[in-house]
Amino acid sequence: MFDITLARALHVAAIVHWIGGVTFVTLVLLPGVHRLAEPTERARLFEAIESAFSWQAKISVTLAGLTGFYMTHRLAAWGRFLDPAFWWMHAMVAIWAVFSIVLFVLEPLFLDQWFQRQMQSQPGGTMAIVQRGHLVLMTLSLVTVLAAVLGSHGALY
Ligand code: HEM
Repeated sequence: MFDITLARALHVAAIVHWIGGVTFVTLVLLPGVHRLAEPTERARLFEAIESAFSWQAKISVTLAGLTGFYMTHRLAAWGRFLDPAFWWMHAMVAIWAVFSIVLFVLEPLFLDQWFQRQMQSQPGGTMAIVQRGHLVLMTLSLVTVLAAVLGSHGALY
């Protein structure tokens, strides 16, 4: 059973790093960039700082997924995905899937170029979209953290 406990500890550490980073970018970095830089400079400043987090997030998202699926396997909990009462399990996988697709597929294929193009033509509006996107993902992630702790400790059923 020690392996499950270890997987849970690594899972939570990965989540703290990943969702904590998203929260910092949303509530500290983006407002700071808005305050300190002119509209045309904001993208450069934001990307220069955020790129240091982006590769780290790829590691913590991967670790969260590996440990999450490992626990699901070891707890023989796959059946939970067929039971709506375990919606918090679905929420975890959904958040993980959204971030994985954004970080590993959309960003390298489209989002980076889209961001560069949009910043040339309408910097203010583009940064507002980036801010809103981060706010939505951060909120859904934090709700999922709350639900996952409550759910895995028996408080939701
Ligand atoms: C592939 C994605 C994921 C899978 C398969 C997964 C699976 C699991 C499993 C099986 C547990 C243990 C449940 C139990 O003890 O009954 C767990 C716990 C937890 N997960 Fe995930 N998870 C994933 C992603 C996430 C994400 C994205 C978050 C946060 C946004 C998250 C947050 C948590 C938290 C906070 C706990 C509770 C730890 C505790 O209090 O003991 N997980 N996860």
